[in-house]
Amino acid sequence: MDSVLVVDDERNIRALLTRVLTEEQLDVHTVGTGTEGLESAADLDPDVVLLDIRLPDIDGLEVLRALKGRHPETAVIMITAFGQIENAVLAMRSGATDYLEKPFEHLDKLRLAVRRALDEVRARREIHRLRTLQEGQYRADQIIGESDSTRRLRTMISQLARSEAQTILVQGESGTGKELVAKGLHYESPRRQFPFMEINCAAITETLFESELFGHEKGAFTDARTTKKGLMELADRGTLFLDEVTEMSSGSQAKFLRCIQERVFRRVGGTRDIKVDVRVIAATNRPLEAQVKDGKFREDLFYRLNVIPIVIPPLRERQEDILPLARHFLLESNTRFHKTIRGFGPQTEKLLLSYRWPGNVRELKNLIERLVILGASELIEPGDLPPPFSAPLESAPRRSPAGDAQSLADVERDYILETIQRANGNKSKAAKILGISRQTLRKKLEER
Ligand SMILES: Nc1ncnc2c1ncn2[C@@H]1O[C@H](COP(=O)(O)OP(=O)(O)OP(=O)(O)O)[C@@H](O)[C@H]1O
Ligand SMILES: [Mg+2]
Repeated sequence: MDSVLVVDDERNIRALLTRVLTEEQLDVHTVGTGTEGLESAADLDPDVVLLDIRLPDIDGLEVLRALKGRHPETAVIMITAFGQIENAVLAMRSGATDYLEKPFEHLDKLRLAVRRALDEVRARREIHRLRTLQEGQYRADQIIGESDSTRRLRTMISQLARSEAQTILVQGESGTGKELVAKGLHYESPRRQFPFMEINCAAITETLFESELFGHEKGAFTDARTTKKGLMELADRGTLFLDEVTEMSSGSQAKFLRCIQERVFRRVGGTRDIKVDVRVIAATNRPLEAQVKDGKFREDLFYRLNVIPIVIPPLRERQEDILPLARHFLLESNTRFHKTIRGFGPQTEKLLLSYRWPGNVRELKNLIERLVILGASELIEPGDLPPPFSAPLESAPRRSPAGDAQSLADVERDYILETIQRANGNKSKAAKILGISRQTLRKKLEER
């Protein structure tokens, strides 16, 4: 039962609120002073507190601040006497959810305010719950798979997380789980109490990159109206995840090199060196060494980043992971979409194992999700699978004599083209459906 604590020195107000709110199926407690209010709140941990702004002992606003400090999730509704609007405004600024004016002429207004406050508390608790859950999600044992390489990956994450390692480079095709690994490294380490910050180098221009990463001083450039801390500073004692590091411009590479060599940087427009303790995890879905050979990525930066390399193989190279992952995502999707699909038929399993998974684990996850949403039968059978699986290999139109590998590639191409068609030529959308990045899609189309 949701609980409400009423703190008001007027007995008739307490009686009225008790009556009205009890009728609303709420568990109501009342007290007459601020001190008692704080004590009862500590005992009861109420969902909502109705708090008189004028109390005989402590000022209601002070009680409010103390309450919000100790019970950040509790919603507080202030009760003010008619004409005390300034106080109500102050209270709202100090974290009150709402205010009501005495005398309560419209009881509906009171009921509505309490209902709303309860909704707010529920939402806040849910966010808190999800956040805790999310942290749990990024532990190494949430990295599913039975292949040797995945087993090694789990061990490595646990060891590295606790180590002093300052820089880690994660390489792997799109959708192989690089971000999952980076978060695993953060949330398994003592650094988890500090922020995990991320920046995607592909999504940001050179000038913006610098001020995002290092921050800027007031007046450093036209838009810099205030001093702003950069991600490096915000991530102090935590982790910075540098995604798609190959996409960093050469100017940014030079600036980043100094920062990573010395763990010291200056804000844009600043003259002071700032020192931080940040673990940098860089990720790339293109082989970085090749980028260095082509002169697209600085060699010195590469060596700085590549102190501890983690390479995640593509899913097609770790077949032992496919079915455990598929079953894991099936359970997850069953729960999420309130379904009770039991598993995969033996033929389906065969098809899942022989597919090439261009979008890797993300593609597998998306596929299972779609199957669960659409699926009605107990077991997922080959007929339930989309084209690249269901097209029987024997009758594939462009079958080559080279054997299965070749025809799978054909099937894959057909599927990609068909998906693009279904997405009315929108390649971003098609990439999303396929569970691959736009880049991967482009590469696949260029390969043909
Ligand atoms: N071993 C695994 N166990 C469980 N889930 C996984 C595993 N690998 C990947 N996933 C899931 O697959 C999806 C894709 O993973 P992630 O985003 O980490 O890939 P990525 O390598 O960063 O891809 P991109 O290069 O496209 O950014 C995520 O939902 C992730 O949770
Ligand atoms: Mg990623």
